[in-house]
Amino acid sequence: IIEDVQVRKILDSRGNPTIEVDVITWNSKGRAAAPSGASTGSYEVVPYPKGGIDEVVSEMEDLIASELIGMDAEDLVTIDEVLKEVDGTDNLSAIGGNTTVAISMAVAKAAAASYNMPLYKYIGGNLVNELPFPLGNMMNGGAHAGINAPDIQEFLVVPVGATNISDAVFANASVHKRLKELIQSKDSNFTGGKGDEGGWVPNISNDAALEIQARACEEVGDELGIEIRPSLDIAASELWNAAEQKYIYAQDGIKRDTGDQIDFVKDIIDTYNMFYVEDPFDESDFGGFSQLTAKVGDKCLICGDDLFVTNKELLAKGIEMKAANAIIIKPNQIGSLSETYATVKLAKENNIVPVVSHRSGETTDETIAHLAVGFSSPLIKTGAIGGERIAKLNELIRIEEELPNPTMNKF
Ligand code: PGA
Ligand code: ZN
Repeated sequence: IIEDVQVRKILDSRGNPTIEVDVITWNSKGRAAAPSGASTGSYEVVPYPKGGIDEVVSEMEDLIASELIGMDAEDLVTIDEVLKEVDGTDNLSAIGGNTTVAISMAVAKAAAASYNMPLYKYIGGNLVNELPFPLGNMMNGGAHAGINAPDIQEFLVVPVGATNISDAVFANASVHKRLKELIQSKDSNFTGGKGDEGGWVPNISNDAALEIQARACEEVGDELGIEIRPSLDIAASELWNAAEQKYIYAQDGIKRDTGDQIDFVKDIIDTYNMFYVEDPFDESDFGGFSQLTAKVGDKCLICGDDLFVTNKELLAKGIEMKAANAIIIKPNQIGSLSETYATVKLAKENNIVPVVSHRSGETTDETIAHLAVGFSSPLIKTGAIGGERIAKLNELIRIEEELPNPTMNKF
């Protein structure tokens, strides 16, 4: 039974304020913090009310607490509904989706703690046994980096040949190290600058970045004896110019219409044997997604982030249109853990791979590591280095130790 809900303003990894919530029950406590996006999807819930976190702390904490005190922390679906009613808007703009999601996650953690259970086991049950493969962020461009960086937002890698989580996260860290050397060999002025998610920000073309990404995967993969495959988040909504109906690649000085974009991405997937490509088209272009998935969906994961924004209805549309075979899962895009779970469930029922993900602005909150294991998600996207990223990766190493018979997830 919930006895108190406390809200505070804390720092995130970009130095911006974010919200942290403590939920206190008669015999336990749960704590969770919300992350924040930079390349947010248009259909995400609104993170904060007009007055920001300060308004939540000063004016809404007591109101929310009074609604939740006395409720059973195990009854998360009802609690999430009550929070929506308290908000009263369609997009959570009155109390903020970051407020509701932090409360929702803190409630779940308090419920798990009341059984002395880790969150992954509370969600996934006693049989949970599989670790997700980490999608590691190696180089950053686009909205996560400066103006001379590549247009593609994230150059990622997946150690698909790893047989345990420790080997997997250290393989990613090795590729990250190797890439620094490879960038320096192309650009002697490179000083080791990093983007929001800890990937290097090189002053090189998209093509050059793709080439050294592939090379680093191959070299490190050979050295470690672990197959490592390149992946991308193109975050194409950020490149799309609606007036011109073109994707603008500023760094390369090239504009592509949807047809060109399909050819461009397909060519990259074929040339570099890409494992995973996220948001290759604008968030409104389900058609472009469908065409690409029809061409390459048998050999590459085509993932919707801004396209689906963790929203069950948008995913249902994507399933009907065969728009993608993977979906990014970011709880704060939809504002509650129970709705996040409903989206994951729909994805799994339709063979869409759910990819539990961090955001570019993060805290040391480790909840998503538990969600990835509890949801039995084959992939987790949470960077490769940096305190707020390793908080999740190191938690996965601890979870692996606790599991009776741990294996890496399957695709
Ligand atoms: P965001 O971006 O957290 O800045 O929205 C991450 C992503 O696009 O995957
Ligand atoms: Zn994305």
